[in-house]
Amino acid sequence: MTTRPDYIDLIEHAREARERAYCPYSHFAVGAAVLTSSGRVFPGCNVENAAYPATICAERAALMGAYAAGERTIVAIAVIADTPGPVSPCGTCRQVIFELAPNATVILANTDGATHPTSPQVLLPGGFMPEDLQ
Ligand code: THU
Repeated sequence: MTTRPDYIDLIEHAREARERAYCPYSHFAVGAAVLTSSGRVFPGCNVENAAYPATICAERAALMGAYAAGERTIVAIAVIADTPGPVSPCGTCRQVIFELAPNATVILANTDGATHPTSPQVLLPGGFMPEDLQ
């Protein structure tokens, strides 16, 4: 698959965010960047904790930042890590992307330049939905 040129910038934002990862336990740095409908870009990186489950992933950090700023329409989210192929988001992040960025293009990338554009629905078939609470 090809990646649209306008998403190359977003991947670069994710690459820069990755350099700010706080990952003293896993030594696995992840970066993310969210593009919203107002044209703003929100960075995210993984931030770990000695109480390991308290760690937050890069994708969720970026999405929470966008939502905290009042943004609600996510156009795209890029994620990058030093993986053999485009990084695979964890299950929790897939669920959060599914609800908070349902119409986003999700661009998975690695530090070698591999990219894979996909969608929240492809990443999480049958994801739990707000309607399921009714
Ligand atoms: N990590 C992310 O930031 N995003 C993912 O989708 C996968 C995992 C982080 C969490 C932890 O800090 C490190 O990568 C190793 O799991």
